Amino acid sequence: MIYRYTDYSLLPHNTFGMDVKADSFVEYTSVDDLCRILDERRQAGASDPLLCIGGGSNLLFSGDFRGTVLHSAIRGIAVMREDEHAVWVKVGAGEVWDDFVAHCVAHSWYGAENLSAIPGEVGASAVQNIGAYGAEVKDLITEVEAVDVATSEVVRIPAADCRYAYRQSIFKNEWKGRFIITAVTYRLGKTPVFHIDYGNLREELSGRELTLQAVREAVRRIRDSKLPDPRKQGNAGSFFMNPVVERSLFEQLRGQYPSMPYYEVDAAHVKIPAGWMIDRCGWKGRSLGRVGVHDRQALVLVNRGGATGPEIMALAAAVQRDVKARFGIDIHPEVNYI
Ligand code: EPU
Repeated sequence: MIYRYTDYSLLPHNTFGMDVKADSFVEYTSVDDLCRILDERRQAGASDPLLCIGGGSNLLFSGDFRGTVLHSAIRGIAVMREDEHAVWVKVGAGEVWDDFVAHCVAHSWYGAENLSAIPGEVGASAVQNIGAYGAEVKDLITEVEAVDVATSEVVRIPAADCRYAYRQSIFKNEWKGRFIITAVTYRLGKTPVFHIDYGNLREELSGRELTLQAVREAVRRIRDSKLPDPRKQGNAGSFFMNPVVERSLFEQLRGQYPSMPYYEVDAAHVKIPAGWMIDRCGWKGRSLGRVGVHDRQALVLVNRGGATGPEIMALAAAVQRDVKARFGIDIHPEVNYI
């Protein structure tokens, strides 16, 4: 099925709660439908910009979108292969990511539980390489199915070719706009392995039996305590990526700020939490008109009601300036500006 709308409000499709419109919004429920949409665009010589969105939890619109927004409603969770250790599951790009995590937990499949409650859809998980509590989705993905926008050819891309790195993939960089993801195959374990040594996850689980459900609930509780609910206050989770810096700069800063938290990356690099730096700059809980920095997690910028994209962008720029002035570090948005 293909559903087409014109002059369409994107309010329900962006968690920042921006009241913007798209000239055209097209939703499809199968790979064939998507190919048909792309074929028709080519035949008609359509040249308006195309934007593919998922749950809209990582987007910031600067204004109305003068083009066509495509949204996958391709559903389905199918076991493709199984052995005694693992299961390979192909999931439609339009499935809600957290519904898939719930499915994994219910089937005693290990690996996705630390990624509980991340907003967004399956297709975007493979673009953004979503991560939380020491887990990254790149470690579960085996293959990405996508359609080539220029030819409507369906391709299967092995995870090894997706150039995955912290919040990065080839789909955000070299291949930006080239493919539309239609399904993602994940490999989940069948034997109990837990990763609970990140942050206060172990502490949150203390006194409870260690099960997939318990980890899922603990992650939910921690997230709920820090991250604002987008249904109540517009936001896109972490606004900035945590910067990876040279170890020499890190050592120098650590001398100045002995309590500075950090994550090891490799022999030459260290990752520093941007939220901590923004907090140290005094931004936590502050507002700039209708936008502000969340009072429980400084990495999150919030729409305090009725704000526009440029207002969020101006706040982001002010925060970036202060972090650069105080720490000498450039921080970059994780959120995609449209
Ligand atoms: N911190 C502060 N003040 C703050 C925020 C953080 O001092 O206002 C300190 C914390 O005390 C902690 C450190 O900074 O020592 C890291 O904070 P936290 O554990 O909250 O994680 P984060 O690095 O800020 C990342 C991800 C989140 C993910 C959490 C948990 C990025 C950009 N963000 O945040 O992902 O949920 O770790 O794993 O990597 C997202 O991408 O949208 C997102 C929410």
